[in-house]
Amino acid sequence: HIPVIRTLPQLRRWRQEARERKLEVGVVPTMGALHEGHLNLVRASMAGNPLTVMTLFVNPMQFAPTEDLSSYPRQLERDLSLLSTLLTTPSSSSSSSYSSPTPTRSLRGLGISEHESFRPPTPVANAAVESPLVVFAPSPEVMYPLKGELQDLGRHKGVRVDVKGWGEVMEGSSRPQFFKGVATVCTKLFNAVEPDHAYFGQKDIQQALLLKILVQDLLLSHPTSSNLHILPTTRASSGLALSSRNAYLSPPELVVAPVLHRALSSAVDLYTTSASPVDEEDGITGEDLISIATRTILDEQQRLLSAPEAEGGGVELRLDYIEVFDKHTFEPVRGKVEKGREMVIAGAVWVGTTRLIDNLLIGWE
Ligand code: PAJ
Repeated sequence: HIPVIRTLPQLRRWRQEARERKLEVGVVPTMGALHEGHLNLVRASMAGNPLTVMTLFVNPMQFAPTEDLSSYPRQLERDLSLLSTLLTTPSSSSSSSYSSPTPTRSLRGLGISEHESFRPPTPVANAAVESPLVVFAPSPEVMYPLKGELQDLGRHKGVRVDVKGWGEVMEGSSRPQFFKGVATVCTKLFNAVEPDHAYFGQKDIQQALLLKILVQDLLLSHPTSSNLHILPTTRASSGLALSSRNAYLSPPELVVAPVLHRALSSAVDLYTTSASPVDEEDGITGEDLISIATRTILDEQQRLLSAPEAEGGGVELRLDYIEVFDKHTFEPVRGKVEKGREMVIAGAVWVGTTRLIDNLLIGWE
């Protein structure tokens, strides 16, 4: 039911038709293995734009050789059926064009084809932009078209986008290749889709803020920095941020995983409940925020030593980092926290062999 676009010429034709019909386009970049967090981004894009492209591409450049590129969950059929639940217009005239289960036939319904040279003799009028939601699922060769480039991603052959200063701290210091991969692939996706609006999750706040800086610094207009929207993190009732990587967690690990959110929340509580957090005399410091969050993790490690398995006993919990940083400069916040400073407290923990990240905003209006 969801049209799947796989090549650049197909995408460009679709985009051109949208432009001719003056229909705004929202983009939601993802790596698939969709959950409610992704779907909420798609809902926001569909509410704000007549047309939405979800991009679905497991980007090899943002994975280090030791990371989970080959095991990262790939489940296109399941993802497409989840997305189809968002198309709640059964009486829409477009539905018959997209009822084919095979991508090839549904692409024909769009007036485009898997084969670049193929042109339908009588294109279906306006069919290309009839579905409010399409998926762009390119192959690695489409996204990395230089000869030999894909075999050599770690060795800087080809163009790399590197957001110096913002890409090397926090997540970037734990994963040195990560933001170069994200910035490069998102620049490519923005150039391919030319979206009017783009939607990212607060779950990966450093990624979203860094991409705002990228579009500003590269003078991109599709999207502009202010049309790159950051939506709140979708959580399970335990507080655990939804993530495709949660699928790796065993039942006892799932009991332990919400500790990261509890830890970050304890810092936010400290900030909001301190009598006068912004007074010069007795205000709290960046160090106070980090230390209360860290203590929550250490307490949990202590508890796990004697807990029964059903309560997480036997699970290995390790802290990677907890950091408070300035929203604008990404600099660590140290010393007294001054009034009106917009900050993020972010952290990463290992639960067994799975690395989880989360963050909360502090001092944002
Ligand atoms: P992925 O991890 O699939 O996430 C795609 C988008 O969904 C990102 O903007 C991410 O922040 C958002 N997201 C994930 N979990 C969320 C949650 N619980 N609540 C709200 N939003 C959530 O992030 C990436 O892919 C890639 O790095 C990508 C940007 C696609 C570049 O390859």
